[in-house]
Amino acid sequence: MLGIPFMAPFWVILLGLFLSLAVGVVSGTYPAKRAAELDPVVIKLEKVNKTYRCGGAEVKAVQELNLEIRRGEFVSIVGPSGSGKSTLLNIIGCLDRPDSGKYFFDGSDIEGLSDDELAVIRGFKIGFVFQFFNLFPRVSVIRNLMLPMIFAGMGTRKHRIRSAMKMLYEVGVPERAKFAATDISGGEQQKVAIARALMNRPDLLLADEPTGNLDSKSSEKIMSILGELNQRGMTIIMVTHNEELARATRRIVSIHDGRMIGDEAVG
Ligand SMILES: Nc1ncnc2c1ncn2[C@@H]1O[C@H](COP(=O)(O)OP(=O)(O)OP(=O)(O)O)[C@@H](O)[C@H]1O
Ligand SMILES: [Mg+2]
Repeated sequence: MLGIPFMAPFWVILLGLFLSLAVGVVSGTYPAKRAAELDPVVIKLEKVNKTYRCGGAEVKAVQELNLEIRRGEFVSIVGPSGSGKSTLLNIIGCLDRPDSGKYFFDGSDIEGLSDDELAVIRGFKIGFVFQFFNLFPRVSVIRNLMLPMIFAGMGTRKHRIRSAMKMLYEVGVPERAKFAATDISGGEQQKVAIARALMNRPDLLLADEPTGNLDSKSSEKIMSILGELNQRGMTIIMVTHNEELARATRRIVSIHDGRMIGDEAVG
């Protein structure tokens, strides 16, 4: 009985907090759109530069680039050929380091991380669909998919086979499981590359022209898979030349001569 007088103020405070939050949401103080803006920043580039030197020539592939991407975003990167899109994606995917500038992945300054630590990030957090697939050529499709799990020490063999088959069904090429990666068409290799990137259930999917070799029906299928993954919370960054596909994402970052020249919200 003695507890009741002391309990009352506690419940009053709790009720007050709840009411003020509810009134805030209803009155628009905390509109739904703000929720996305409050998601944590997963990628932060500050004045990033990358220059290639080939013979005597120098190519400034990425210049003074600033970019911030929050968890759950679906971003497309567009720009003409040679504008630095793949170079930028390789930096974001921790496959390459900037020459200067800062890159924070999930809050960690990657400059301070060893190559082994970057390999762990790539293995567990990032799925990469390469512009030219990078499938192991004489290895079967299903084994190509199982390799990231084997490298990451994930699951039993039975579990890996089941996950790989499930993913091949999702992208629509289960009947190619036992074919060598070189014995399937370019479009099929593209789908297998996407399936492989999803095998370790990454938080972040980086896709360099994921529909580049596909007919329009297959492109739509891939875009709907990416859209669904994004709906389920995956952060996706996709390089594309296709304006229509870029418009199907939520944000378009435009690159020219290694510099960001546009950053537009869509939809
Ligand atoms: N390993 C490398 N060595 C030397 N130069 C390179 C290297 N990789 C890229 N480049 C050059 O850097 C610039 C940017 O290349 P990048 O591949 O990032 O462009 P991109 O926008 O992806 O082009 P595309 O749309 O044709 O794929 C180009 O001029 C390219 O020739
Ligand atoms: Mg490229």
